[in-house]
Amino acid sequence: MPVLKNISRLYTCRDEGLQKEVFPVENATLAWIGDTIVWSGKERDLPAEYLNESSMDAEGGVVVPGFIDCHTHLAFGGWRADEFEMRLKGKSYLEIAKEGGGILSTVKATRQATEEELFAKCLRFLEKIKQSGVTSIECKSGYGLTVNDELKTLRVYKRLKEVSEYNIKTTFLGAHSFPPEYRGKHRAYIDLIINEMLPKVAKENLADFCDVFVEESAFNLSEAREILEAGKTFGLIPKLHADQLSTGGGAELAAEVGAISADHLEHVSDAGIRKMAEAGVVAVNLPLASLYTQQPFLNCRPLIDAGIPVAIATDFNPGSAPSYDIHLAMLLSCMHGRLTPDECLKAVTINAAKAIGIDKDHGSLESGKKADFLVLHIPDFNFWIYHYNGSKITAIVLKGKRIHP
Ligand code: NIG
Ligand code: FE
Repeated sequence: MPVLKNISRLYTCRDEGLQKEVFPVENATLAWIGDTIVWSGKERDLPAEYLNESSMDAEGGVVVPGFIDCHTHLAFGGWRADEFEMRLKGKSYLEIAKEGGGILSTVKATRQATEEELFAKCLRFLEKIKQSGVTSIECKSGYGLTVNDELKTLRVYKRLKEVSEYNIKTTFLGAHSFPPEYRGKHRAYIDLIINEMLPKVAKENLADFCDVFVEESAFNLSEAREILEAGKTFGLIPKLHADQLSTGGGAELAAEVGAISADHLEHVSDAGIRKMAEAGVVAVNLPLASLYTQQPFLNCRPLIDAGIPVAIATDFNPGSAPSYDIHLAMLLSCMHGRLTPDECLKAVTINAAKAIGIDKDHGSLESGKKADFLVLHIPDFNFWIYHYNGSKITAIVLKGKRIHP
C-alpha cells in the first residue's frame, strides 16, 4: 500500500459546504490500496498501521484531486481553422453556420473519417490531455448525425474506455444539429433519433447521457423535451446545451426533465437559475466557447448565490472551443466568470464529477474514493491559476498508479 507523505497542503474538495470551501489540510498524508484511497488527513494523525508502508514523497508539493473535464466533443473529423480567421475578420459564429460552415462542416468531415481514424485521433488528444492533469473526461457524439455515424463515434469512445486508463463517460448528442439531408424535415429527423438511434445506442450500451443543443438554430424546447424524455426511457440521463447564444428556456427545461447538468448558460434567465437551483441541476461553465466565439462570458456569481453547484469544462471541439486546456478554462472562469481560484478547484473536481454522475467514486480525496490526484509545486491553488502555464504538475496518479511524468 503506498503512502504519499510530505504534502504541504492537500485539498480534499469534499462534497459539502459552499463552492469556495475546498477543505484544505496542511502537512497531510494520503494512503491508498490498489486504486482506492484508504486514508487522508494530517501526517501526524496517520494510523500506526500505515507507518511502515512504502512511501512516495510529495516533496512539499500541493495535492489536488485529478481534474475532470465534464464536457467535450472529443471525436471529430478535420478542423475549422478557416472559420477562426473568418470570425476574426468580423463574421459571427451563427453567420458562418448559416452559410454551411460551423457544426455541419465538421459533420461532413466526421462522416468521411473511418472509426479507425477517429480512434487514433482521440488517442492522440488523450495523450496530451493527460499531461494537463485531467483524469476523467466526458465525450459527446453529435458530428455524425446518421445512425451509422453516431454509432461509429460512440464506438470510438467505447474502445477508448477499453484501452485507456481514463475514467470516460459518454453522451449521445444526435440532436446537435439538423443534418443537411433533413432540412425542412425536422419531424423525420426527430423520429430517426427516437426510433432508430436511441434504441441502437442503448442496445450496445454506448452512452450514459442524452444531450440536446437547444437554440434557435438547432432544436426548440418541445423537440428537446421529446428527445430527452425518450432518452430517459432508454436509461439515458438528460443533459442540455442551454441558453448559449440566446435566452431560450433551456435552463428551465433542464430542471423540468431532471437533467444532471445544463451547460453553457451564457444567456440564462433569472427564472432558469431559480428552477435549476430547485431541481439540483449542475451548471457547467464553458468559457473557452465564449472566448473563441467572442460572445459574453457567463457570470457565475448569480448561480453560486442561488446555491447551484458550478462546474467548469473545456467544451473541446473544432469550432467554438478548439482547445482542451482546462487550466485556461479555469483562468477565464476567474477573469470573466468571477469565480475565485478555490471555487474553480471545486468546479473541476467534485462539481464536475457531479455533472457526469461519477461523484461517488471521483472528485475528492477521501477514504473510499479512487486515488486520482495531482502533485503541484506551488504555494497554493491560487498561485496555480495566477501563474498560468508556468507551474508544472510534478506527478499525476490515476487509479493509484503514477501515469505522468
Ligand atoms: O458546445 N453549441 C453547440 N455545440 C458546440 C459547438 C460545436 C461546434 O461549433 O462544432 C458547443 O459549443
Ligand atoms: Fe458543447
